[in-house]
Amino acid sequence: MIVNGTPVSGTPRPGQCLRTFLRDSGWFGVKKGCDAGDCGACTVHVDGVPVHSCIYPALRAAGREVTTIEGLSHPVQQAFLDTQGFQCGFCTPGMIMTAAALTPEQQADLPRAMKGNICRCTGYSAIADAITGTTRIFRPNVPVVAPIGHPVPAPAGPDVVTGRARFTADLGPEEPDAVPPEPPLHMKLLRSPHAHAEIRSIDASAASRVPGVVAVFTYEDSPARRFSTARHHDPDDDPYDTLVLDRVVRFAGQRVAAVVADTVAAAEAACALIEVDYDVRPAVTDAVSAIRPGAPLLHPDLAPRNVAADVHREAGDPDRGFAAADEVYEQTFRVQRVQHVHLETHTTVGWMSRGRLVLRTSSQTPFLTRDELCRIFGLEKDQVRVVVKRTGGGFGGKQEMLTEDVVALAVLATGRPVHLEFTREEEFSAATTRHPMEITVRAGATRDGTLTALALTVTSDTGAYGNHAPGVLFHAIEEAVTAYRCVNKRITARAVYTNTVPAGAFRGYGLSQTVFAVECAFDELARLLGLDPAEFRRRNLIREGDDLVNGSGEPSDVSTASVGAAECLDLVEKALASGRGSAAPDGWLTGTGIAVGMLDTVPPGGHDGRARVAQLPGGRYAVFAGTAEFGNGTTTVHQQLAARVLGCSPTDVDVLSSDTDRSGHDTGAYGSTGIVVAGTATVRAARALAEAMAADPGGEKLLEAEGYCDGRARSVSFAAQGLRIAVCPPTGEIRILQSVQAVDAGTVINPAQLRGQVEGGVAQALGAALFEEVRLDSAGQVTTRALREYHVPVLADLPRTEVCFAATRDANGPFGAKPMSEAPFNPVAPALANALRDATGVRFTALPLRRDVVYGALNPEGA
Ligand code: FES
Ligand code: FES
Repeated sequence: MIVNGTPVSGTPRPGQCLRTFLRDSGWFGVKKGCDAGDCGACTVHVDGVPVHSCIYPALRAAGREVTTIEGLSHPVQQAFLDTQGFQCGFCTPGMIMTAAALTPEQQADLPRAMKGNICRCTGYSAIADAITGTTRIFRPNVPVVAPIGHPVPAPAGPDVVTGRARFTADLGPEEPDAVPPEPPLHMKLLRSPHAHAEIRSIDASAASRVPGVVAVFTYEDSPARRFSTARHHDPDDDPYDTLVLDRVVRFAGQRVAAVVADTVAAAEAACALIEVDYDVRPAVTDAVSAIRPGAPLLHPDLAPRNVAADVHREAGDPDRGFAAADEVYEQTFRVQRVQHVHLETHTTVGWMSRGRLVLRTSSQTPFLTRDELCRIFGLEKDQVRVVVKRTGGGFGGKQEMLTEDVVALAVLATGRPVHLEFTREEEFSAATTRHPMEITVRAGATRDGTLTALALTVTSDTGAYGNHAPGVLFHAIEEAVTAYRCVNKRITARAVYTNTVPAGAFRGYGLSQTVFAVECAFDELARLLGLDPAEFRRRNLIREGDDLVNGSGEPSDVSTASVGAAECLDLVEKALASGRGSAAPDGWLTGTGIAVGMLDTVPPGGHDGRARVAQLPGGRYAVFAGTAEFGNGTTTVHQQLAARVLGCSPTDVDVLSSDTDRSGHDTGAYGSTGIVVAGTATVRAARALAEAMAADPGGEKLLEAEGYCDGRARSVSFAAQGLRIAVCPPTGEIRILQSVQAVDAGTVINPAQLRGQVEGGVAQALGAALFEEVRLDSAGQVTTRALREYHVPVLADLPRTEVCFAATRDANGPFGAKPMSEAPFNPVAPALANALRDATGVRFTALPLRRDVVYGALNPEGA
């Protein structure tokens, strides 16, 4: 075949698809999101026609002309740069290849034309703008001082739209210090078919005889040290309940053995030949059953009642508060398991370099991963390097160590480079999910709308392991209740082990579940009181200077000096009243709903951010930051912050991040800390450098300086969502007529990126509110194992969201900025449920609000 004008010859392996054939030939712009024809990340042109190369046999391309993103030259690539039509950029090559081949007729019907391409980050609006040539003008509502407040483009953009950007598995020769010295072996994992069992024995002799197999690892090879896959500033935050390979399996999908071989096919064939003798144990797959007396115990030594964490808090006198109320509303809400579906799956390549273990991995926490590997394998920190290249999305899913430990085991044992890349099926069945929760809310208020008491009872299902179980539980019960001024509060919450796929960190970190419950309950309480739901919130939301009440008995360390909640509500109401948006089809019911979510700007307990800024020749600067870029825009913002301090252009600043050899210890890119903590460290380093430069007016030395932020200063940010919807009673279909979100993000550093984060957060949340769900059968097996079974929103599923910025300024964040990566997700589902209640009169108490569920509620006789 001719690939990008160059003849390529070779014999594909039997059954090999064009995607892997092209990547084997070095065309790394051909990505893998699913290998099943569902996501479009692998799109290339064959004789000018776009195809999903993962389901296109390589042999079929013989004699044809193949074009990958590297060989494309099309105006739409510049348009993606102009509109900032990407975040992580993993979907972008495929998006562009599809867009570049659209006819005018297809361009006129983008929802249909782009249905084969998934983007998990952007919410599609900026992508649609790029394809249609639409320019959106940013009008900041506060004075800006360049480059702060300007839509500075992402520096990686030109590489992303041409396929030159290197993600974890793209082992190109141009990064000699970050690729293995020889092609890596491939690892495949044998996984348990049982939800709960003890392994009596494993016979890997037949597997070991498969040609090309180098090693098979079982529990007998595992280090004995227990750890948590969760990565946290304080590792003691999570129970030490996991082994690299365990003799007890606690969910269907848990690793049982690891095979490394010359090829993926040999590793897969060997996995199929491993014989495991299981002693199958009783399993418990729901949280309510798991805490009943006599339930099977998952970790009897750690959790004798299957309780991974529990909290009881009380403030004021809740009983008296409820007695003083004119109306009390109580309801139980259920929030489902959803998956992050970052388009780049978990992947790690490991090798030895001059006696050191090097891991190139897709992670939000390179330093914490290094530290835990040292603890597990008994290594010193200078014996391990963890490097993170461009990462294809995370959303909390990569605040875990799901591949690095077993790759390290194989590299240390064989001395050879090893690559492990999860399939999409493994992402669904063996990576982590959002914690499913059952939340009972009881809320009381007096006739004038004053909240007199609020009580929450929360049961969180952490699955088979306790990674993030305590943290998510504590966070879930924090901002959802501290956002409101009520002095009488009672909280009972617990996280429970079950024999199901583990839950973990997920955008919002527990708040999307409790905010759904509280904001739905307040909507009903306002109705009981005859008050407008927005007005009820306005009367009760915290105000500047308030003390936060969480019932812990401890004074809060969170500052409320800047509170933009009321302004966000005003902006949403104004937009909803504007008449913008679509009209409802004839005969459909219509309704409007709002909800608000608060987020503390930094996780509790501190968060290390370290940065180094160095002078380069020619008036340029380099920022070495420990935090990771995974589509959240950190790199661009750090350029802007350093440039503002140093008085140069952002294009004069190179940002090099997330390599444990290049900067001081950084806790990682989670908890929305990329700007507020890591950015503050960069500002401090840049200021120190500016002072050093002022003291060296001759400029004879090349200077550098360091900055540190301990993440102790915390404040609050808000996001308010408004939705106007139409509902079709005969079918249950929901159509979104207008979507608006207003955010209190403090000083807006980069309006294009901020708007993109909000649009992407709303899009991901609408998917979780409307149809996404990781489903399990009664034996605990995940049944939604492919994107087409799970339904990630495509362009056709989503409305455009109008994004408004409140004019606030934070005392802690750099130049007054607050974070806004997680907060946009949280108020969306309750706003949708409230709009549905407004339209239909029915209070839906469980997510997702699928069409069949809505239909069933509206047509009880036909359901
Ligand atoms: S990787 Fe080919 S469609 Fe997803
Ligand atoms: S930018 Fe589309 S998946 Fe990340």
